[in-house]
Amino acid sequence: MMEKLDKTDYVFPQVEWEIRDFDSEGYILDLGGGGEGVIGQLKGKDVIAIDFRKEELLEAAEGPLKIVMDARELKFLDESFHAATAFFSLMYVRKKEDQLKVFREAWRVLKPGGVLHFWDVDISQKPKTDSKHFIVHLLYRIGEKITETGYGMPWPEEPRGIDYYQELAKQAGFQKSDTAWEGNTFYLHLVKS
Ligand SMILES: C[S@@+](CC[C@H](N)C(=O)[O-])C[C@H]1O[C@@H](n2cnc3c(N)ncnc32)[C@H](O)[C@@H]1O
Repeated sequence: MMEKLDKTDYVFPQVEWEIRDFDSEGYILDLGGGGEGVIGQLKGKDVIAIDFRKEELLEAAEGPLKIVMDARELKFLDESFHAATAFFSLMYVRKKEDQLKVFREAWRVLKPGGVLHFWDVDISQKPKTDSKHFIVHLLYRIGEKITETGYGMPWPEEPRGIDYYQELAKQAGFQKSDTAWEGNTFYLHLVKS
């Protein structure tokens, strides 16, 4: 989903992510998988994409099984998946308690040893700006295909950096095993131990 850029929005410097294939067994659960549906583009029919906005799922490319569902209250049984993903989805969840619910639900539906692949934006320090919204300006590469997009939201009320997200993930029961950065955006490899 390319957000409509408003001249008054604060746009972070463009970042580029190569979305590399990863090993997985069974279905991959993509949380907030509408919009660009990046993980669906990477893994196609192996993906179950859930999003609570039907129009976002309709916008996403064909391939995954798309289900309208709230990530705060997943309808799957415990220990259903080896892998889950959240690609710039948690930045769209406004309340901290709801973000924690999403992490807890992801943990619940993952099998022991399962992985949550998590990408998001670090806003531990808000830049000096009067703008009400920020945009993450992203180029993502899947194989040879490069796509430009923007993910935008109002500024969160509290600073939300990598430490903030790691703490929420830890509270939910995840252990971090890997981190990568591109500009002020990050990837965390979170394991249900
Ligand atoms: C714009 S997308 C971000 C990127 C998306 N993962 C992609 O690959 O393009 C974020 C999505 O998260 C969804 N979302 C936000 N809160 C949610 C929730 N509680 N449950 C399910 N989906 C949610 C939004 O509707 C939105 O479609």
